[in-house]
Amino acid sequence: MSSDDSFELLLEYMETELSFATSHYNDSYLDRRITARMRRTECETYGEYYEHVRSNPDEQRALLDSLSINVTGFFRNPEVWDGVRDVLRSLAGETDRIDIWSAACADGREPYSLSMIVHDEPQVDPSTVRILGTDISNEALQVAREGVYQESRTTSIGGELEYIDEYSQFIEYDSGENSYRVRDTIKQPVEFQRHDLINGDPKSGFDLVTCRNLFIYIDTEYKQSMLQTISESISQGGYLIIGKSETIPPEMKPVFSPVDNRNRIYQKQD
Ligand SMILES: C[S@@+](CC[C@H](N)C(=O)[O-])C[C@H]1O[C@@H](n2cnc3c(N)ncnc32)[C@H](O)[C@@H]1O
Repeated sequence: MSSDDSFELLLEYMETELSFATSHYNDSYLDRRITARMRRTECETYGEYYEHVRSNPDEQRALLDSLSINVTGFFRNPEVWDGVRDVLRSLAGETDRIDIWSAACADGREPYSLSMIVHDEPQVDPSTVRILGTDISNEALQVAREGVYQESRTTSIGGELEYIDEYSQFIEYDSGENSYRVRDTIKQPVEFQRHDLINGDPKSGFDLVTCRNLFIYIDTEYKQSMLQTISESISQGGYLIIGKSETIPPEMKPVFSPVDNRNRIYQKQD
C-alpha cells in the first residue's frame, strides 16, 4: 500500500471510529499532528502508525488531544488589540449600541478581552455593548461561562493580561488557587452559545465579528462558506477581524475591504 493510501486510511479511521471530522480540516495540519505522534511512538510509516493507533486506546486519546485546536489567550497578539480599540472608538461615534460576536471563542478569553477593552476605553460606554461568544465545543463553553482560569507552568494568565495596565479591576487573582476569576462587571455584557460555523445559520446585526485562528485549520472549501456565514451576520459597514496569519480568500475580497492590513481588520462593503 502506498504512503498516500495509508494516510487516507488513517483519516478515514479517525473520521469513522474516533468521530473526528477530518474532512473539515486541511491535510497539512492533520499531517503535521499525525507525524508528531508518529515520532513519539517511533512509527516510521503511516501504515505502521495506523496499526498502532487501532490497537491502542491510549494512543487514540493522545492523537485526539494533539489535534485539539483550542489554543487561546487573553489579548492574543497584543498589537491587534490596539486595532480593536480603534474599531470600538469609531463604532462608538457612529451607533448607540455595539453588538460584537466572538466566533470560535474557545474558553472565553477572547470575548472577555473584548469586554475588558470596552470597559477600559473612555470613549466607549460599556452599557451600550453586547458581546456574544460562540464555539462548537461545549466543554470550552463551560469553562467560558465559569470565567476562572488557572495559572500553570505552560500558561501565564498574568502575562497575557499585562496588555491592560490595571487588570486587577477586571479580573481577580486568587493566590491560594493560583487562578484568575473574571469579575462580574466584565462578565455582565457577555453571553455564550454553542454555534457551528460550518453547519450553523448566520446571525444578524453585528457591528464587529472576530473569528481568529480557526481558518488556519480549515479546508479551503469550508473556509469560504464560513466567511459567507460571517458576512451575512455583519451589518453594512461593520468590521471583521481574523487571525494574524490568516487571509481572506480571493472570492470574498470584494466583500471585505482592508482597514488595517497588518492586524487583519476588514470592513464589510455595501
Ligand atoms: C484555536 S481556537 C481560537 C480561539 C480564539 N478565537 C483565539 O484566537 O484565541 C479555535 C476554536 O475553534 C473552535 N471550532 C472548531 N471548529 C469549529 C466550528 N466548525 N465552528 C465553531 N467553532 C469551531 C474550536 O473548538 C476552538 O475553540
